[in-house]
Amino acid sequence: MTTFYITTPIYYVNDVPHLGTAYTTIAADVLARYHRAQGHDTWFLTGTDEHGQKIEQTAKEQNKTPLDLANTVVNRFETTWKNLNITHNDFIRTTQDRHKTVVADIWNRLVDAGDIYLGEYKGSYCIRCESFYTEGQLIDKKLCPIHNSEISRISESSYFFRLSKYQDRLLEHFNNYPDFVQPESYKNEIISFIKTGLRDLSISRTSFQWGITTPTDDKHVIYVWLDALTNYISALGGPGTDAYKQFWPAQIHLIGKDILRFHAVYWPCFLFATNLPLPKTILTHGWWNVRGKKISKSLPATQVDPNHIVSELSSDALRYFLLREIPLGLDGDFSYETLIDRYNADLANDLGNLLQRTLSMTVKFCDGSVPLPSNHLPSISLDEEINQTTKHFDNNAPSLALETIWAIIRKTNRYIDSNKPWTLAKDPTNQDTVNHIMSTALNTLYYVAQLIAPVLPDTSITIQNKLGIEHPTVSWPQTPLSSHAIESNNTIECGSPLFPRIDQTRKEDLIAIWSNESK
Ligand code: MSP
Repeated sequence: MTTFYITTPIYYVNDVPHLGTAYTTIAADVLARYHRAQGHDTWFLTGTDEHGQKIEQTAKEQNKTPLDLANTVVNRFETTWKNLNITHNDFIRTTQDRHKTVVADIWNRLVDAGDIYLGEYKGSYCIRCESFYTEGQLIDKKLCPIHNSEISRISESSYFFRLSKYQDRLLEHFNNYPDFVQPESYKNEIISFIKTGLRDLSISRTSFQWGITTPTDDKHVIYVWLDALTNYISALGGPGTDAYKQFWPAQIHLIGKDILRFHAVYWPCFLFATNLPLPKTILTHGWWNVRGKKISKSLPATQVDPNHIVSELSSDALRYFLLREIPLGLDGDFSYETLIDRYNADLANDLGNLLQRTLSMTVKFCDGSVPLPSNHLPSISLDEEINQTTKHFDNNAPSLALETIWAIIRKTNRYIDSNKPWTLAKDPTNQDTVNHIMSTALNTLYYVAQLIAPVLPDTSITIQNKLGIEHPTVSWPQTPLSSHAIESNNTIECGSPLFPRIDQTRKEDLIAIWSNESK
């Protein structure tokens, strides 16, 4: 059976979940759900990154121990992921023993490979990125290139990893596996970076305590990125375990563009050194800003809490917006106005209307049960769009998949408009034709419910229930499609609209509520 192992980055516990972290997690969930629907043996991992100087400092500022801080924030992550309908199979915390054991094992393997040596690190360090920078990488020789903030100058005893040794092998890997980093633009960027020359990497620190002590020298804690990256295999139990054999190498590490270097340079080289296979694809997404500003703890207006959107709209609405608005890979700009406008246009109008009018006409013209199609009348052909949707999901392009699904929805709305069942129904001799039209529209809605399920899981269930399916399931449609996807005679249920339209007054109210909540 095909296996599909997908991971998100593990999130630092110095910050609560926000739109950016929600985006990564939702996107990973969408791909995991798609592969489950395809019948693939799927494993979806997320978790938290709890060690390092940044967490130690934040805990101190809050008068907490690092572990107390982590416990509180982990609760926030778990609640948020539940509210967003995230279906991870495991949640790894780097403070767990199961993780620490595997990190120590990886360290020992690096030592055995002869790839670690003791030295002195003198240079720049950004605590917010937990990253070392060379003078040439800094802005104005003093600012972090990611955060634009002052970096620290450190000078301490450190173990180094022979990263430079693996430069050629890494470039060769990029050559042999063109999909190793997706999309293409990020691949080119990282290849250029590697070609500027890889320097050996400092992989232990001595000036603070909060981390995993190296198994070979108790004065050093392991560099937080070596610790964190190992989560992708420690969560499986480490090399040699059954779960590891089943799922490693991962098909996809989904990450934001800010952490590409760690995943596409350091991680592969650690794996080369330890003789373990590399993940298949590092799928890199862009960055969300809020009204043109970078999401930041110091700018409350950018702190969009996904939970607030879920409680006033729905988790499906937020999931849809984030995945439809920008292609994975590009940057996006979030505003409550665009969220509501897209909700009204795509969910309330296109999908909501198609469902509502189809159901209410079935009640009116077909006694409320799914009628039989006729073999002699034209239906809508969906095969091409379904194959396209599948291709887009296979290519990790959910925004294009959604565009294609919406083409089906609009096409079905046009099919109803041009066939005018309300006019035909006036003459009882047209009943077979009316039955056929309604059956075609209901059947299409069944397939739409299947296709949207990875992104809009709750809506998929609601639509299936409305189509009289008592126990909704999700399984990816295979072409050629059947024209009898739903049993004839199912009693359909009209009920209230799926996505009630948000009028101007409610729009202004919602924006006011959300803006206040983020202050
Ligand atoms: N702990 C590291 C990752 C270790 S993985 C072995 C880390 N954590 S983080 O909490 O800072 O956030 C990581 C991820 O959150 C980013 O890579 C990105 O996927 C996501 N995002 C955080 N802010 C974001 C935006 N503003 N927009 C989109 N995604 C963002 O880095």
